[in-house]
Amino acid sequence: MGLKATNAMRRDWNERARKDAFLYIASWKDDWSEESFFASGEADYERLVEPTIARLGITPAESAMGELGCGAGRMTRAFARRFRAVTAIDISEEMQARAKRYLKDSDNVRWAPTDGVSLTGIETGSMDFVFSYLVLQHYPSAELIAGSIKEMMRILRPGGAFLFQFNGSRKATMNWRGGVASAALDGLCSIGFKRVAQSCARFAGIDPDMIGKTWRGVALCSEEVDRMVRSAGGAPAGFEGENSPLAWCFGRKASQGNP
Ligand SMILES: C[S@@+](CC[C@H](N)C(=O)[O-])C[C@H]1O[C@@H](n2cnc3c(N)ncnc32)[C@H](O)[C@@H]1O
Repeated sequence: MGLKATNAMRRDWNERARKDAFLYIASWKDDWSEESFFASGEADYERLVEPTIARLGITPAESAMGELGCGAGRMTRAFARRFRAVTAIDISEEMQARAKRYLKDSDNVRWAPTDGVSLTGIETGSMDFVFSYLVLQHYPSAELIAGSIKEMMRILRPGGAFLFQFNGSRKATMNWRGGVASAALDGLCSIGFKRVAQSCARFAGIDPDMIGKTWRGVALCSEEVDRMVRSAGGAPAGFEGENSPLAWCFGRKASQGNP
């Protein structure tokens, strides 16, 4: 699954970036302006990040942070305004190219590519905080999610904090007809008939760029995520939104000699 899956992820996210980056990043609205898109990043920072980092004792102005799956920079801008240094990571060079344009004045942002799992080029133990939102939920396998969690823990300093979102809901989010149609189209994609699957999706009134395992991804229960984090040297302090599509895990990397 490894290389083939990550190549498919990059190809699909590049296509989505070219077609309508704002829509595929924040698909709850389809008429984003640049202003409203970045305002949503600010609002999400205040709503999702601020309370948790306060709880974990992170002082942004003194901290270096990494954002896995920065997209077009929606939340990166909010991080850059507050953190000492930001490393913005993405598998899609098309997404990152857009982010770089929008954030051209943010000189504390470093842009980091990834092959989809490894964060080569980011030093072990160099981050005080790592964050990811609306990213792991799209991964086609638990194995790839475990790989990204391992890398997030690697780049954190001992005692550094993490906060990431994943899909914790095993319940179908569509009616049974939609579920059957999507599963069939995903199946066609996975055996190499992406174009055919996309034509069928168009015919069925489904957005063809939301077809395939790199959009829907896999769901995980909190116990699985807990195991992945612990085996990578992290210590979850808690979960929020468990068993929902927007589940969160937060905690710290174990301090040396204090697992
Ligand atoms: C739905 S967007 C969310 C962007 C951003 N987190 C936000 O909230 O605005 C998902 C982003 O994750 C990136 N992505 C997907 N798989 C990735 C992977 N394996 N490693 C790094 N980035 C990935 C995509 O290219 C895309 O830019």
